[in-house]
Amino acid sequence: MGRIYWAHIVFLFCLGIFLLPSSCQDDSDGATTAVYIVTLRQTPSSHYYGELRRVSNGRSKPGAFGRTRFHKPSTFRNITRTDRRYGSYIARVHDSLLKKVLKGEKYLKLYSYHYLINGFAVLVTQQQAEKLSRRGEVSNVVLDFSVRTATTHTPQFLGLPQGAWSQDGGFETAGEGIVIGFVDTGIDPTHPSFGDNNSEHPYPVPAHFSGICEVTPDFPSGSCNRKLVGARHFAASAITRGIFNSSKDYASPFDGDGHGTHTAAVAAGNHGIPVVVSGHHFGNASGMAPRSHVAVYKALYKSFGGFAADVVAAIDQAAQDGVDIISLSITPNRRPPGIATFFNPIDMSLLSAVKAGIFVVQAAGNTGPSPMSMSSFSPWIYTVGAASHDRSYSNSMVLGNNVTIPGVGLAPGTDDNQMYKLVHAHDALNNNSTAADDMYVNECQDASNFDHDLVKGNLLMCSYSIRFVLGLSTIKQALETAKNLSSVGVVFYMDPFVIGFQLNPVPMKMPGIIIASTNDSKSLLQYYNSSLEIDGTSKRVTKFGAVATICGGLKANYSNAAPKVMYYSARGPDPGDSLPHEAEILKPNLVAPGNFIWAAWSSLGTDSVEFLAGENFAMMSGTSMAAPHVAGLAALIKQKFPNFSPAAIASALSTTASLYDNNGGPIMAQRSYASPDLNQSPATPFDMGSGFVNATSALNPGLIFDSSYDDYMSFLCGINGSAPVVLNFTGQNCNLYYNSTVNGPDLNLPSITIAKLNQTRVVQRTIQNVGGNESFSVGWSAPYGVSLKVSPTHFYIGSGEKQVLSVFLNATINNSVASFGRIGLFGNQGHIINIPLSVILKISLNLTVS
Ligand SMILES: *[C@@H]1O[C@H](CO)[C@@H](O)[C@H](O)[C@H]1NC(C)=O
Ligand SMILES: *[C@@H]1O[C@H](CO)[C@@H](O)[C@H](O)[C@H]1NC(C)=O
Ligand SMILES: *[C@@H]1O[C@H](CO)[C@@H](O)[C@H](O)[C@H]1NC(C)=O
Ligand SMILES: *[C@@H]1O[C@H](CO)[C@@H](O)[C@H](O)[C@H]1NC(C)=O
Ligand SMILES: *[C@@H]1O[C@H](CO)[C@@H](O)[C@H](O)[C@H]1NC(C)=O
Ligand SMILES: *[C@@H]1O[C@H](CO)[C@@H](O)[C@H](O)[C@H]1NC(C)=O
Ligand SMILES: *[C@@H]1O[C@H](CO)[C@@H](O)[C@H](O)[C@H]1NC(C)=O
Ligand SMILES: *[C@@H]1O[C@H](CO)[C@@H](O)[C@H](O)[C@H]1NC(C)=O
Ligand SMILES: *[C@@H]1O[C@H](CO)[C@@H](O)[C@H](O)[C@H]1NC(C)=O
Ligand SMILES: *[C@@H]1O[C@H](CO)[C@@H](O)[C@H](O)[C@H]1NC(C)=O
Ligand SMILES: *[C@@H]1O[C@H](CO)[C@@H](O)[C@H](O)[C@H]1NC(C)=O
Ligand SMILES: *[C@@H]1O[C@H](CO)[C@@H](O)[C@H](O)[C@H]1NC(C)=O
Repeated sequence: MGRIYWAHIVFLFCLGIFLLPSSCQDDSDGATTAVYIVTLRQTPSSHYYGELRRVSNGRSKPGAFGRTRFHKPSTFRNITRTDRRYGSYIARVHDSLLKKVLKGEKYLKLYSYHYLINGFAVLVTQQQAEKLSRRGEVSNVVLDFSVRTATTHTPQFLGLPQGAWSQDGGFETAGEGIVIGFVDTGIDPTHPSFGDNNSEHPYPVPAHFSGICEVTPDFPSGSCNRKLVGARHFAASAITRGIFNSSKDYASPFDGDGHGTHTAAVAAGNHGIPVVVSGHHFGNASGMAPRSHVAVYKALYKSFGGFAADVVAAIDQAAQDGVDIISLSITPNRRPPGIATFFNPIDMSLLSAVKAGIFVVQAAGNTGPSPMSMSSFSPWIYTVGAASHDRSYSNSMVLGNNVTIPGVGLAPGTDDNQMYKLVHAHDALNNNSTAADDMYVNECQDASNFDHDLVKGNLLMCSYSIRFVLGLSTIKQALETAKNLSSVGVVFYMDPFVIGFQLNPVPMKMPGIIIASTNDSKSLLQYYNSSLEIDGTSKRVTKFGAVATICGGLKANYSNAAPKVMYYSARGPDPGDSLPHEAEILKPNLVAPGNFIWAAWSSLGTDSVEFLAGENFAMMSGTSMAAPHVAGLAALIKQKFPNFSPAAIASALSTTASLYDNNGGPIMAQRSYASPDLNQSPATPFDMGSGFVNATSALNPGLIFDSSYDDYMSFLCGINGSAPVVLNFTGQNCNLYYNSTVNGPDLNLPSITIAKLNQTRVVQRTIQNVGGNESFSVGWSAPYGVSLKVSPTHFYIGSGEKQVLSVFLNATINNSVASFGRIGLFGNQGHIINIPLSVILKISLNLTVS
């Protein structure tokens, strides 16, 4: 069982409880209070110090963006971005503002933000919030909102050992010097995936990083090292709401869930760490960038998920500390309100992070497969969907009637293909138990219900119900029951109320199998029932006639058609289809491995309660697992090209993505939750963005499409009526950008997405050569109903030079569904640049089709 279902449960949970804005009662006047995120007009420090950083760091791109004016108090003329005095100065400004505005009233400030945004989070009444918003120095007041959390083999599947790692000097150095910041559920610092005990290749200290590690009893001094270079936690909003449980959630960077440990290991876990689960060895694990450094900003929690006020504090700190990459396996619980999805405190602080040169990766969300189910929105964020890879662990059982039934379970098989008697739990009750006493007796959770002699030496059949999904019953406990009864193994059949969803292969210590399909479960039960002999008067079974053997599922097999876009991976375009600005940004940007991913697990992690407790590794699925794959690969790109902007890294990943699966066919996308492999068709850019990540070619992109902070501002300012919102969130005046506003299709992205093609349109792209001299020819396939031309059709481009491409589109039919095409640039030195094209045709005039 995996991440996916868990996410659904948390979602319902959050809707039920935590989306209510009010959580505390103010005892003085009974008014309800809530957490608000307040932004001030004064520029945050990164907008000034971001410039310093690029110089002092020596690795980021100098001066790509316009410098904004920032009036520093004269006493702070000399401070650097790492100077904490500036942060406390800003905090005092915030405190005195609150004191002045809310004179003598009760309120609680939770955070002062100063690096990416200048503002604070505060617990106040609505009336007080209004008072604050009327102040001249306050630009914006937003209600806090909730968010949720959306590998042994994937390095090989992505070709890293021979490809990308070899370009960065092998796994011994791949990613070295690059710091990845994780905003997640924390980390287990004792896990070998994050040790720095490597005497052959000692870890360097990343000089540009200035983060610290909290020290608490459950995160003692010495938890951090040269691998795990920073660790903090942010929980003020959660604590204020009274839902923080320190025994489950840990008031420290320690991971009480497991998710954060897993995602950090996928991106940056040490190389060659043996994966041993339930006593079985499943190979060695490695992160994508095994030598990059990990900085942890815990803002999500086991019990409740997280809140934007805490997430923004985490992002602000990560940027201030000097991380190179931020990886977010979290998404908002619902579409942010307002004139466009981009205008929410998380995306806005990430825009500021991108301005400071930080590459930002976010999970697309597990809200697929319907169109417009995307949970990650902005063009400055790199959004990653989840695809399968080629490894599977299949299990099966053979029945006495020679029927083979497939199932799941990382379990050994029964001995020597010998057949064993099948005994259903409800036919094995002892005299003291009846099904009426315990309606869940079929779930095999309590050995004292059963007759030892009936079960001993036989296969016990148990029901896998929705209670397993909820963690009320567990596989572990059923296996314990079977062991106590001296059973040889357990067969779980699917309760008909659990609709056919994908089960993660569950590790089992003894022979076992879960029959995941309800139809297969039915045929198993039919065979079983038809083989029983029952005494007419006592109604007791007098003979168990059914037999079976369990084949076992410990061996991986690598024959899956892969990659394939998983049904749960959120789909584009952006949900604001009525607003072309949103739908005209291609999302997701890319897909990467996200299904059945082995990686480190927190020893005290309690997520997926049913089988992972106490394990050091877990196999998880979700876009949460896909995003850190890309964060790790981005670290490899950053190591090889230290001067690449965030947009250039994004471009390198996108233009080089693969379009084909391992059988040479088009990458497929699953399109339904039930029986996903029977409901699939070739993936479109709204399913997979540019395609499936190709690590080898992303490190050698040839040409890139670059964009800067100013370009994103020109885009935001081009949205109808956005000026006050832009001013409120960023403190920037759109007057500066009115000369240069662009629509989504005109942003210099490595994709073209047009939400409404009315007759004709021309878009331009500027590409830059980051490789050697090369000649390119241009090819394309037009979307259905569009006539397309690209100019020039051939060009020579010297190293470092730029080239403008013009793309001409005419609509030839009227069609309200999206159609897709592609432009390819084919270089004579082997570079291939892939540009997906998505167009919805909306023609107001009647055309005569000749
Ligand atoms: C700090 O300020 C002093 C005098 O204002 C100047 O001489 C010095 O170079 C400054 N240091 C830095 C690092 O800017
Ligand atoms: C901008 O902020 C001001 C002051 O807080 C508020 O009155 C106004 O409604 C905000 N405008 C928008 C578009 O959010
Ligand atoms: C470091 O590794 C060496 C050998 O691999 C081992 O003997 C030593 O105990 C380890 N030290 C720590 C602190 O883990
Ligand atoms: C906190 O979690 C512990 C452990 O799960 C539980 O026993 C306790 O009741 C919880 N406390 C609250 C206040 O929910
Ligand atoms: C896995 O790691 C262990 C110990 O680190 C090592 O002895 C073994 O050779 C590795 N196996 C493979 C297949 O790399
Ligand atoms: C099952 O197949 C085996 C050989 O393949 C055969 O000997 C046996 O009779 C078959 N049993 C049934 C019940 O069909
Ligand atoms: C039935 O219950 C009695 C009394 O609780 C106990 O002594 C006996 O062992 C139980 N029988 C079985 C088969 O569990
Ligand atoms: C990835 O890129 C490399 C180098 O361009 C190429 O050889 C390989 O075939 C690509 N892989 C896939 C799956 O497209
Ligand atoms: C906008 O354009 C006008 C005239 O073309 C020019 O005078 C002005 O300086 C421009 N403003 C900015 C901010 O570039
Ligand atoms: C499409 O373009 C035509 C001609 O330029 C214009 O009259 C019409 O209003 C446009 N329709 C839409 C829906 O924008
Ligand atoms: C689009 O239509 C115009 C006018 O009919 C024509 O000149 C142009 O060549 C067409 N462009 C394409 C790409 O078909
Ligand atoms: C388009 O044609 C249909 C019938 O062919 C007609 O009913 C409709 O009014 C026409 N629309 C316009 C905008 O001419």
